[in-house]
Amino acid sequence: MHSILIIGCGSIGERHLRCFQKTGRCTVTACDTNPALQAAMADRYGVPVHPTLDAALQAATYDAAVICTPAHIHLPIAIRLLAAGLHLFIEKPLAIDQSLVAETRHAIAAAQRHVAVAYVYHLMPWVAGVHSFLASSPLGKILHVSAVSGQHFPTFRPAYRDIYYARHDLGGGAIQDAITHTVNAMEWLVGPCTRVYCDAAHQFLDGVTVEDTVNVTARHGSILASYVLNQFQAPNETTFLIHGELGSVKIELHERRWGVLLRGDADWTWHVTPVMERDDLFISQAHAFMDGMEGKSHPLCTFEEAVQTLRFNEAALLSASTQLPVPLA
Ligand SMILES: NC(=O)c1ccc[n+]([C@@H]2O[C@H](COP(=O)([O-])OP(=O)(O)OC[C@H]3O[C@@H](n4cnc5c(N)ncnc54)[C@H](O)[C@@H]3O)[C@@H](O)[C@H]2O)c1
Repeated sequence: MHSILIIGCGSIGERHLRCFQKTGRCTVTACDTNPALQAAMADRYGVPVHPTLDAALQAATYDAAVICTPAHIHLPIAIRLLAAGLHLFIEKPLAIDQSLVAETRHAIAAAQRHVAVAYVYHLMPWVAGVHSFLASSPLGKILHVSAVSGQHFPTFRPAYRDIYYARHDLGGGAIQDAITHTVNAMEWLVGPCTRVYCDAAHQFLDGVTVEDTVNVTARHGSILASYVLNQFQAPNETTFLIHGELGSVKIELHERRWGVLLRGDADWTWHVTPVMERDDLFISQAHAFMDGMEGKSHPLCTFEEAVQTLRFNEAALLSASTQLPVPLA
């Protein structure tokens, strides 16, 4: 049995707590500074709960931690826990800037622990299926990709005004919180983004001023890319298109399916995943993280892949504010 500490038991932390517990492969301890959440975690899941990281570390030892606080403190917590010898699963986005990335990279190398980042699209069978499919280059050279995405955010996150989402310096806004998922997934599928031209604005969401609507024209090397997202539209839909010399791949997240249409085919050939509970994805993710702890292969986003997507987040914010294209270092 692994011993897992969940740091931050808000919306996603509670889900991780429940889903790690459901794997049956670990014991779980909770840590949150909010007294109401401390009581709720103890009541709902019967786990030990601590009000601070200090208290949690004094009370017991852990094999790993899942860092589910807002993003501005992901890396300070990570550096501290690597020094204590823990494996780490860090929520996205990795951070709000690059300031602690080099120090964290050194800490990982020194600690020799398993570190992964919770970009959960890697666990979606309809994304992972495309990742496997593309490995043998069935589309020839990939030339052009796009991702169109949106949902009515207040329906899914009614508290958005009162959480990190309302502030860029806590990891909020549509770029750092939402489009980062589609870009990270596309980078996993076709390689890193290398240039960003981003237009973004606050169009609709009440009570916040951060951007809720984003248009990006990008390059992934020689591949031309576009990303479109808003957080107010009625349909909750995300579609990826990947076009190569020999054909195209489409992913429809909302239909849990991916398809391929090679030149000459009459229609798409679809691969459909049966309806799943939302927790199922996160239980798979917890298993994948513990597989990594045990030295087994896993599909999770690596630290360096998350650093790359952090470069995208920063470049997109800079481009949106300067109205200029930004190359990624
Ligand atoms: N992968 C996903 O699908 C997904 C979904 C939602 C959020 N997230 C990410 O997860 C992170 C958290 O998001 P959330 O929606 O759960 O936020 P949230 O505000 O609901 O929860 C954050 C929790 O962290 C606690 N906290 C803050 N500082 C702490 C500290 N020093 N020690 C212990 N606890 C502390 C807060 O009390 C709060 O309960 C963000 O980085 C966010 O981008 C990812």
